[in-house]
Amino acid sequence: SAAQKDGYDWFMRKEIFEQPKAVADALLGRRGLNGQLALDEMRLSDEDVRDIDKIIIIACGTSFYAGMVAKYAIEHWCRIPVEVELSSEFRYRDPILDNGTLVVAISQSGETADTLQAIRHARVQKSKVLAICNTNGSTIPRESDAVIYTHAGPEIGVASTKGFLTQLVACYLLGLYLAQVRGVKFDDEIARILDQLDGIPAAIESVLADAESVYALARDYVSTKSVLFLGRHAGYPVALEGALKLKELAYIHAEGFAAGELKHGPIALVEEGLPIFCVIPPRGRDQLHEKMISGIQEVRARGARTICLAEEDDELIKPYADTLITLPKVPVLLQPLVATVPLQLFACELATAMGHDVDMPRNLAKSVTVE
Ligand code: G6P
Repeated sequence: SAAQKDGYDWFMRKEIFEQPKAVADALLGRRGLNGQLALDEMRLSDEDVRDIDKIIIIACGTSFYAGMVAKYAIEHWCRIPVEVELSSEFRYRDPILDNGTLVVAISQSGETADTLQAIRHARVQKSKVLAICNTNGSTIPRESDAVIYTHAGPEIGVASTKGFLTQLVACYLLGLYLAQVRGVKFDDEIARILDQLDGIPAAIESVLADAESVYALARDYVSTKSVLFLGRHAGYPVALEGALKLKELAYIHAEGFAAGELKHGPIALVEEGLPIFCVIPPRGRDQLHEKMISGIQEVRARGARTICLAEEDDELIKPYADTLITLPKVPVLLQPLVATVPLQLFACELATAMGHDVDMPRNLAKSVTVE
């Protein structure tokens, strides 16, 4: 049954390995007749969708990082301004909302109180609400105008894994759906991106096939006091998620930074031997790639040990990586779907090696139903 660990030591580890299937399930049945993309529930007309002039994504925790990735994709594909905000901040700052605003609530459980209160507030201001959720019939989708279910299956581990990757898929689908209805992308462009998404389960499989080397790396870090994560563009939320996983599971100080911000503060933290994970953008985006490398040079010059996650044929990164974790080739906007996986494996294994309860980390709850 879904609540069995199937030979894994932790639900979390099992759920990490379920991700190829979870992503495939999240994509299943989305291409309807005439190539029209299908959401799970839609109570908005095409005209409503065309009238949207701003999107505000609200979420907490790991779901918030999915929202950050969504901003890059949706603004690029649809040319609609997107804000991303923590649910707990959104409601109390008097946000500007009207019936042209689409509020997108991302919640694995569908019961997070901060997010629920935020969508209630948005609806009172006449905004439309779309939920991205993994739990059928939970409160947040019930109170929304439209729903994309993530179809990841039950997630038991408190730290979200397959929930996150399938939220990313749902965010990409939302972006493509909006682009289609609003006519800002041609059907063949949408079909090309959907084909790239269809290749992701196999790409994740190839990352999982290397799990042992990530585990060996993690076991070297049991006495580490602090770890940093750097990323740019869609790699920035990946860095934040990698850091969150380490805090949640291994209880060690971990921070994610936008690589370009290093020089504005975080570089002061760098000292001899500090491990820094670096999410390297694909070579297809040379400007991002070059800028990332210059950031890495700065931290290495100060003694940091870099663990680089980079495309498999990225030769340029080699001189700058103390440790290299290779990723399959995918477009920059989709890279979070593969780059997050080694960071999940690392946190899971490090916490295991430290003797912590990976499925039930101290002080945390799977779903936080109080504000
Ligand atoms: C809790 C969990 C996190 C999760 C967050 C948001 O803090 O421990 O793993 O990301 O809630 O949950 P949601 O169900 O709204 O996605």
